[in-house]
Amino acid sequence: MGKAAPQDLWIEVDRYISGHLAGEDAALIAALESSAAAGLPPIEVSPNAGKFLHLLALLRGARRILEVGTLGGYSTIWLARALPAGGRLVTLELDPHHAEVARANIARAGVGELVDIRVGPALESLAGLEREGAAPFDLIFIDADKQSNPEYVGWALKLSQSGTIVVVDNVVRDGAIIDANDPDPAIQGTRRLYEMLAIEPRLSATALQTVGCKGYDGFVMALVK
Ligand code: SAH
Ligand code: DHB
Ligand code: MG
Repeated sequence: MGKAAPQDLWIEVDRYISGHLAGEDAALIAALESSAAAGLPPIEVSPNAGKFLHLLALLRGARRILEVGTLGGYSTIWLARALPAGGRLVTLELDPHHAEVARANIARAGVGELVDIRVGPALESLAGLEREGAAPFDLIFIDADKQSNPEYVGWALKLSQSGTIVVVDNVVRDGAIIDANDPDPAIQGTRRLYEMLAIEPRLSATALQTVGCKGYDGFVMALVK
């Protein structure tokens, strides 16, 4: 074990922790299996990260949750399970096939009544939520196309209130985010996100690096003041 490559050890420790603490149940495992069988990419949050989002929603006492980027609904299920009776989660997904897979996964997990999946470009759905007066949300999880991260955080500010928690996934990407010359629009979008957060007076933010079964990455956590 001591001679294992660091990334192998991180994966083993991640599994050790999630095996003891995450409490991934049959419906969450079925969501992963049906997503894989339907050809969705395996880019959902890890079990430990899902549990972390779940705890964050509980800590916040979130009654309204907004998610940008549904995929097969894995993170959606973790978040929706933290809602009280009468709570609501709106999740935005571009790809109709992903949304269809997610709908079945979310229903199987028993939270279908709490979850509203909106299919289409998230920037359009976000404008629709503002028009409808669906805000304010208590917790907002941003995990879609990374080049739009600054725009999504701009929308999060519009759809939030004092005390809203904003989490943005995948903000380290193997360390690629410190390379100003990386031409990847996802990296450039996330670098613009950090620049925006650095000067945004309405948010207090940090980012935490993570290692484990999803490699080396991290997430931003921000509080609306
Ligand atoms: N939150 C999920 C993973 C999301 S993966 C989980 O952890 O389980 C990112 C998702 O964002 C993909 O399903 C992708 O189709 C979607 N996406 C990409 N661009 C988008 C856009 N412009 N609007 C809405 N969703 C988008
Ligand atoms: C990608 C997207 C994600 O949301 C993620 O958690 C990992 C990877 C991607 O687009 O590559
Ligand atoms: Mg992600």
